[in-house]
Amino acid sequence: MHIKHFWPLLAGIGLVATSLSVVGDDDRRGTDVAPVSLPLYQQECGSCHFAYPPGLLPARSWAQVMAGLGDHFGDSAALDALDQQAIQEYLLYNAADRVKERRAVKIARSLPADEAPLRISEVPYIVQKHREIPARLIKDNAKVGSLSNCTACHTRADSGSFSEREIDIPGYGAWDD
Ligand code: HEC
Ligand code: HEC
Repeated sequence: MHIKHFWPLLAGIGLVATSLSVVGDDDRRGTDVAPVSLPLYQQECGSCHFAYPPGLLPARSWAQVMAGLGDHFGDSAALDALDQQAIQEYLLYNAADRVKERRAVKIARSLPADEAPLRISEVPYIVQKHREIPARLIKDNAKVGSLSNCTACHTRADSGSFSEREIDIPGYGAWDD
């Protein structure tokens, strides 16, 4: 085959491969929400707790979280103006109602348009997913403490992956429902 006919063929193979991988996405790990990609966010919002990926809350919730950093769940998480603006833009741009990752879409859809919870752990989709877990494994489990502590149980939450196969509840182990 002459080289000039080879390129269109390669492009064709590329297209087929791309569409196949889109179909296969649902089975792949790490596609629940996009992992955190802004080092500044990781640094400033990941020092007290897991740096929650932006796809876990809609933009209107993030806007409220960012507007109240002076009294952030009883703590001060105040930032200087430039950092505040950069982080806010990052969160709003990548929020659950603005992206396509499957868990983000489900989170956004589970919320009525007039609700803007400050907590991921209060989003209907997240509440519903955890309703079968008894309190002794969450609140009464010293190594977990609350549902907000995603990384205590979801071993790959840092990669944006919340698959049931990757759960390891402290003192209990894998989840088998
Ligand atoms: C000084 C410590 C501190 C810093 C810094 C901090 N947080 Fe928090 N954050 C908290 C505490 C405390 C809670 C409440 C945890 C609880 O109730 O278990 C919380 C809870 C949250 C929750 C709700 C979690 C849930 O679903 O229950 C979100 C969202 C959140 N923080 C976002 C942020 C963002 C965004 C930043 C950066 C701008 C940030 N936090 C920085 C201390 C902090
Ligand atoms: C006490 C351990 C624990 C904590 C803490 C926890 N989860 Fe989970 N999570 C689970 C278990 C167990 C399941 C599976 C529940 C079921 O299917 O009945 C689950 C399911 C999920 C699912 C659905 C996965 C699927 O395959 O359907 C998502 C998304 C999720 N959790 C996100 C979060 C987020 C975000 C946080 C933090 C705000 C969090 N979880 C905190 C244990 C936990």
